[in-house]
Amino acid sequence: MYLLSIPKMYMARNLQRRFLLFLSIIILLSFLFGQTPRTYKSIPAMRQDPTSCPMMISEETITPLQNTKHLLVSAYMDQRVKGLDLRIIGIFRRDSIQPLHCSFCCAGWLSKTSPTTILQHADNFGFPFVTTDVMCQIPTNCNATHVTLLTEPDRLKATNNTWLPISNKKTDENKEKKLEFEFTVCISNLFGDYNNVLQYAQTLEMYRLLGVDRVVIYNTSCGPDLNHLLQSYSQEGFVEMVPWPIDKHLNPSHGWLFSEHGGDVHYFGQLTTLNDCIYRSMELSRYVMLNDIDEIIMPYQHNDLKSLMSTLEQSHPNTGVFPIENHIFPYQHFEPSKRFHLPQWNGVPGVNILEHIYREDPNRNIYHPYKLIVRPESVEQTSVHEVLKRFGQQYKVPPEVCRLIHVRTALRGSLTLKELNVDKRLWDFHEMLIPKVDQVLKRVGLLNT
Ligand SMILES: *[C@@H]1O[C@H](CO)[C@@H](O)[C@H](O)[C@H]1NC(C)=O
Ligand SMILES: *[C@@H]1O[C@H](CO)[C@@H](O)[C@H](O)[C@H]1NC(C)=O
Ligand SMILES: *[C@@H]1O[C@H](CO)[C@@H](O)[C@H](O)[C@H]1NC(C)=O
Repeated sequence: MYLLSIPKMYMARNLQRRFLLFLSIIILLSFLFGQTPRTYKSIPAMRQDPTSCPMMISEETITPLQNTKHLLVSAYMDQRVKGLDLRIIGIFRRDSIQPLHCSFCCAGWLSKTSPTTILQHADNFGFPFVTTDVMCQIPTNCNATHVTLLTEPDRLKATNNTWLPISNKKTDENKEKKLEFEFTVCISNLFGDYNNVLQYAQTLEMYRLLGVDRVVIYNTSCGPDLNHLLQSYSQEGFVEMVPWPIDKHLNPSHGWLFSEHGGDVHYFGQLTTLNDCIYRSMELSRYVMLNDIDEIIMPYQHNDLKSLMSTLEQSHPNTGVFPIENHIFPYQHFEPSKRFHLPQWNGVPGVNILEHIYREDPNRNIYHPYKLIVRPESVEQTSVHEVLKRFGQQYKVPPEVCRLIHVRTALRGSLTLKELNVDKRLWDFHEMLIPKVDQVLKRVGLLNT
């Protein structure tokens, strides 16, 4: 479990050793030439001063917490709850949660420790590990740059720990800053050898046509062609790939329910990545959409998301959570004219969403899911289909205004074609969509010519 941090620790020590060697040479040289180098005065501060910090900074998205069974993911300044300044997002083992203490690195010096409030998220679906927030207060006069958690309130122990950099720092500069993005889509984790390239390319281009300007994807692993496609999108900057090596630390479940699927944590840690994505976007993006890659949040009365949201904002002020109803377009039913069964896509692996125009009505007599459009600053904790803790109001958007186009296997497989709705909303975009998809497939060498 701790394997990943060892090479880093080793590297840090190695660096330190090299630095000491370098120092001795300088001192020796200055001795020989009877001259004190100008840098000498600053050198004592670099010695093993136990109150200077930090020593080891994590560069991973998943960092084991020393002396515990827990994993840490990220640390964000978050002053929306009174008396608390900092939120650490982690994946905690539920049966081993102990009191913890925050230790801060205050731009070079080590602070006193402060007590924590540990908040397990309500959704754990029976798995031993659960998304957990650890909240604490930053000491006064501390310009906090890094944080770590200790099992004892002894700050000197922190020198051995791995530290997390603190993001979303409230500085005067940031307050003035304009948001860089309007709409970010956070895609639930990518894992296995998923290689559904055509649907991925079509969906990403569809997002772009609707006004999405950033897509964040947490990547454990994927198939070879999809890897190519995503490398290309991430080079271009539209997609932000976040490495998510959860399988190096836990035995992640392929399913959502412990009693059925087993494993350590729900769906490769999906709940943690969705929460991290919201905080990661909080000072970057006006809206964040939480959905899977086989889903498109589609306005039916507006041409794009911006005009949809400006209408909803006007009719629903003080609202930051907008659930969108899921509608399934089963991919076993094909549109009969084959109008969009295009020859250039014949060799491309994956589903062609333009060929699936039959839509199931959700069974409203039973639970049926939603996906989410949120203002990140209104969300404190989220799950997949609902926000667990929020500030402000929520408004369920009616399906005639916006629905989730979800091309997948049928949910209500017993429905006949006549019982399904014909819905060609995606076709409204075909003139712009097809050339864009061709272009990106060509770029990665997958287009049939
Ligand atoms: C806090 O520390 C950072 C990093 O060392 C520095 O850039 C920033 O100017 C400091 N801010 C204040 C208010 O001292
Ligand atoms: C730091 O770790 C080393 C080796 O793992 C140990 O010998 C030392 O006592 C630790 N120091 C503190 C302050 O915990
Ligand atoms: C996804 O993760 C795998 C496994 O770490 C890696 O080999 C691959 O390059 C990653 N793909 C992208 C596009 O980041």
